[in-house]
Amino acid sequence: MSKYALVTGGSRGIGRAVVVRLAQDGYQVIVNYASNQAEAERTLELINGQGELLPFDVSNAAQVREALQGWQQRHPEEYIEVLVNNAGIRRDNVLALMPEDDWHRVLDITLSGFFNVTQPLLPAMQLHKFGRIVNMASVSGLKGLPGQTNYSAAKGGIIAATKALAQEVARKNVTVNAVAPGFIKTDMTEGLDEAALKKTIPANRFGNPEEVADLVSFLVSPNAGYITGNVISINGGLYT
Ligand SMILES: NC(=O)c1ccc[n+]([C@@H]2O[C@H](COP(=O)([O-])OP(=O)(O)OC[C@H]3O[C@@H](n4cnc5c(N)ncnc54)[C@H](OP(=O)(O)O)[C@@H]3O)[C@@H](O)[C@H]2O)c1
Repeated sequence: MSKYALVTGGSRGIGRAVVVRLAQDGYQVIVNYASNQAEAERTLELINGQGELLPFDVSNAAQVREALQGWQQRHPEEYIEVLVNNAGIRRDNVLALMPEDDWHRVLDITLSGFFNVTQPLLPAMQLHKFGRIVNMASVSGLKGLPGQTNYSAAKGGIIAATKALAQEVARKNVTVNAVAPGFIKTDMTEGLDEAALKKTIPANRFGNPEEVADLVSFLVSPNAGYITGNVISINGGLYT
């Protein structure tokens, strides 16, 4: 019987690396994305079709419900045992100048996205007494970063949600953890001054998506069954 994992924002960056790693781990991977179909198809190619694409906007509850119900109808005997809530955006600005929409969009995708996708998948994880949820947080959600009040609030919120939900479902062998990357080389960090920023990182470099994916792979493995409600930083020693 196949094992299924869903990675939101799985088409590019960290999400893509997680998709590839989970496919190597033997999962059929459901690759979610919002709009960039070409990149999503490229990701599916990278795993030789060992999964499927499932586009939806995580912040749109109706879209999420319809997509997940459709998947369940196509796979009546299966359940999604691994969920990686990875979709995220940043819309940086000092708070004084932040457009209202940038506040809401960042929180909607990270926090409402977490709720919209996680809630429908929990009953089956609990019923089967096995589930793994990993939420993509950030160093920004641990220490707060200037120019990212919206993003820091969203990532801090996801960390708190991780800790709360972990306690609700631990008895059912469902673990919920957060991963807090520092600076990772993806489209999201494309415009940043890497040469200047890496001087602030003890490892003196940005991380790679594959390094984050290795951590996610461990957290969703049966071996990580006693780790729950935790936030694991992966940041090259960047002090938090
Ligand atoms: N890169 C870093 O340094 C870093 C550091 C800390 C935390 N993180 C977090 O890690 C996660 C991945 O970041 P990344 O750097 O890999 O970002 P990225 O390269 O910009 O990729 C973002 C992914 O999220 C998807 N996405 C965006 N909005 C979505 C929505 N509303 N619904 C569904 N999918 C959506 C995108 O899909 P489309 O292709 O369709 O747009 C894409 O697959 C994010 O949560 C980010 O906050 C990143």
